[in-house]
Amino acid sequence: MKPSVFLTRILPDQVMAELKKRFDLKYNAQDRPLTQQELIRGMHGRQALISMLSDRIDADVIASNADLKVIANYAVGYNNIDLKAASLRGIVVTNTPGVLTNAAADLAWALILSLARRVWEGDRLVRSGRWTGWSPTQLLGTDLSGKILGVIGMGRIGRAVAQRALGFGMRIVYHNRRRLPDHLEKRFHVAYRPLARLLSTADVVSLHVPLTTETRHLIGHPAFERMKTTALLINTSRGPVVDEKALVKALKGGMIAGAGLDVFEEEPKVHKGLLTLPNIVLLPHLGSAGLETRTRMGRIVIENIRAVLKGRSAPDAVA
Ligand code: DGY
Repeated sequence: MKPSVFLTRILPDQVMAELKKRFDLKYNAQDRPLTQQELIRGMHGRQALISMLSDRIDADVIASNADLKVIANYAVGYNNIDLKAASLRGIVVTNTPGVLTNAAADLAWALILSLARRVWEGDRLVRSGRWTGWSPTQLLGTDLSGKILGVIGMGRIGRAVAQRALGFGMRIVYHNRRRLPDHLEKRFHVAYRPLARLLSTADVVSLHVPLTTETRHLIGHPAFERMKTTALLINTSRGPVVDEKALVKALKGGMIAGAGLDVFEEEPKVHKGLLTLPNIVLLPHLGSAGLETRTRMGRIVIENIRAVLKGRSAPDAVA
């Protein structure tokens, strides 16, 4: 008999085909976020749950299914899952590390370039029909070459963002809970800085930390007070790492020059103040949204579920 699996959203075609081949698959064919009750009903009696970063897998959801053995989160971040509740019930939780590193780093760079060179403003100007031709002072942005990139969180994605910065001729400083060993600092051409110093010297600050109690609102008013008035802030990690209210104030008051956000405090809600600002680029959480990447993430999910249900240890267990 095939193992029983519940999937909360439709995944790319190749992944769906593979899931149907390997598992007795039940899924949310409406392809919209499920309510807690719908989620509980859907996963009832299933051995495995494939959840999205937008599904809140709390203690009640976990407790509702005594047959559940594994929760395979289709994301690298897993702050949406109550790990303690899962581990108390012996349920393995897995994520999809590694396979989305390049896609996520590329997207951080898409935001950096869009902001620095005012790409979206140029696009709007051309579409508006108000472009009157080339001008030496039109939409002047900022050069990246020779500037300082500050990476906060030097895990896989932070390192990939730093590597790309070398190609743009930037200097790279980083802050991380634990300083990297010398050989890694040399390999990635990065220099460690205490957080306050990084914030006061970086021209672009890019966030790559997981959401934890320590990182919630890591970037708020005190951080903006330290940052350069010309600095750009990029957040592709998790929304609550940035205090959105303080960000609106910082952008309006000229405390920093601009921001690029792929994530928000209460997705899909976006702070109203952000929507009307000219110096910000907003994306709908596209970090891993490449077809190849999302297909690889699906394979990882399948491998992890198969491992757990066959009694082996999951390659990507986080709890
Ligand atoms: C993840 O997988 O956690 C990222 O947010 C992808 O965008």
